[in-house]
Amino acid sequence: IGERIALTPPMGWNSWNCWARDVTQEQVLSSARAMVESGLVNHGWTYINIDDGWQGRRGGRYNAIQTNDKFPDMKELSEQVHAMGLKLGIYSSPWIGTYAAHIGSYSDNPDGENQWIKDGNHNENFRYEKPGGNYWQDRKEMYRHGAYSFVEADARQWADWQIDYLKYDWNPNDLYHVKEMHDALRATDRDIVYSISNSAPYADAPLWVEYTDCWRTTGDIRDTWKSISSIGFEQQRWAPFCGPGHWPDADMLVVGLVGWGPKLHYTKLTADEQYTHMSLWAMLASPLLIGCDLARLDPFTKSLLTNDEVIAVNQDPLGVHAAAIWEKEGRVIYVKHLEDGAMAVGLFNKTREPAKIGFTLKQLGIRGTQVVRDLWRQKDLTTTDKGFETQVPPHGVVLVKIAPGNPTRNDLKK
Ligand code: GLA
Repeated sequence: IGERIALTPPMGWNSWNCWARDVTQEQVLSSARAMVESGLVNHGWTYINIDDGWQGRRGGRYNAIQTNDKFPDMKELSEQVHAMGLKLGIYSSPWIGTYAAHIGSYSDNPDGENQWIKDGNHNENFRYEKPGGNYWQDRKEMYRHGAYSFVEADARQWADWQIDYLKYDWNPNDLYHVKEMHDALRATDRDIVYSISNSAPYADAPLWVEYTDCWRTTGDIRDTWKSISSIGFEQQRWAPFCGPGHWPDADMLVVGLVGWGPKLHYTKLTADEQYTHMSLWAMLASPLLIGCDLARLDPFTKSLLTNDEVIAVNQDPLGVHAAAIWEKEGRVIYVKHLEDGAMAVGLFNKTREPAKIGFTLKQLGIRGTQVVRDLWRQKDLTTTDKGFETQVPPHGVVLVKIAPGNPTRNDLKK
């Protein structure tokens, strides 16, 4: 794997799904504190990622994007986050603007209205007003061919701030810009995880493997069954491109209090849907980025995010993506091979009724006595040399690990 970083899928938190463009330095800091105080930090959760909304005008030593008023001191924030044993991530775009209309060199246009314009040259601020322009079209036009490229300046600034993770976001993704930022990041003296977003074209998967550490495979996730199931169960085709240092990213975990700023609410997913969400993302070896307000973590969400046996499936060093080995009438079985020779098997029920789902050892290609361990309950269920079948709740999952050997007696008695 040569020079790769992110040898297991990155785990952390991202500000977008709870604070959206209103995110402040104080909220980021309190999220970092909550990561530590809740104990999540002890389960592998590490990155505190600022999404869109931190950007101000260009300036400073490199004429890089500086922060806006909501982030009085990025360097200080970074020091505080690192002092807690965590890492800090940031967000940018090769466009002049971003999805939330924050501009690389911010204009005096707080709502990011429909216009962009440039004045000045390559090295100077963009300021902008273009009445009647088409926001989306202009934004896409303006990034082309690096004519106004600031990537080196920005990458240096991020390295100075000791940033550890970049989410680089736009659509359509293209090789020119992916590579340009890849080169700029790698030219710094930091290991900055390079994550591109969103909806990376499948046809170019080998390029995303080569030039990025993670790439978003879809548009934005929502806290609905429709959204998580249509994303989660449609990732199969990315499997050949998944591995240590290069992860297809199924987007953030919509658990706990989410909802894009003022519309903050408890996730609309049922408990079983949340088990499915977390189990699938673990099986797919997706980056795990929590989208909720960490400072208000309820006991259920906390339990969902601190099950080490489930997390271990995601973080398995082999870095293999699960494969669907069987599917029928809304029931599907995924298998993920693990480094220790065992297998994680997810029995997923996409229907609205409870369903029986089972497999034979033959289907898994194995023989001999196996222990079937329930990973959510952290309990051995049975031993078998034939197979396993169980009842799975509506929109739910039973996630087991199959490994040769004998169960611990105590576990079977429980
Ligand atoms: C896009 C991305 C989101 C988020 C927003 C920010 O929609 O897909 O994850 O980063 O932009 O504006």
